[in-house]
Amino acid sequence: MERVILVGLPGSGKSTIGRQLARRRELPFFDSDQVIESRLGETIRAFFAREGEKTFRDFEERVIDELTMQGSCVLATGGGAVLRSENRQRMRERGVVVYLRASPEQLMRRLRNDTKRPLLQVADPMARLQDLYEEREPLYKEVADFTFDACGSSPALLVSRVMMQL
Ligand code: S3P
Repeated sequence: MERVILVGLPGSGKSTIGRQLARRRELPFFDSDQVIESRLGETIRAFFAREGEKTFRDFEERVIDELTMQGSCVLATGGGAVLRSENRQRMRERGVVVYLRASPEQLMRRLRNDTKRPLLQVADPMARLQDLYEEREPLYKEVADFTFDACGSSPALLVSRVMMQL
């Protein structure tokens, strides 16, 4: 059984790297945000705006619980999934956790024109990214078996590096 779980801030490339990794390992790929949106029948941004963060996190926790019990797979998680200790514990127990690490400055360059992430729809998204980084970096480190520089190489090379560690 091989279950690889990707964590990291928004824009760190969890979905891109996860999809490529899954293809090269010939494993199914799941993206918790995509699963959530298809079940909700609307975007996370719209759901978040109407129902608030707590309701979103409750929904996300159920989806993470379910997806971390699939068989062998690669799973990309939402950037805030590590906030709940229950999610962190399930990830650690059920898979190999890979943290794609990037600085707020690097992420800002990637997310400059983003309209999808509700937490970044603020007047100063850079300050918000810095806050998210400070809050979550210790949690990503706590849960991760391996950490990789998300921006230091092309996606294909990064996938090769991850594969060599697994
Ligand atoms: C969130 C990140 C998003 C998504 C939701 C909340 C967060 O996922 O789950 O908007 O709290 O950082 P990505 O990391 O895939 O952008």
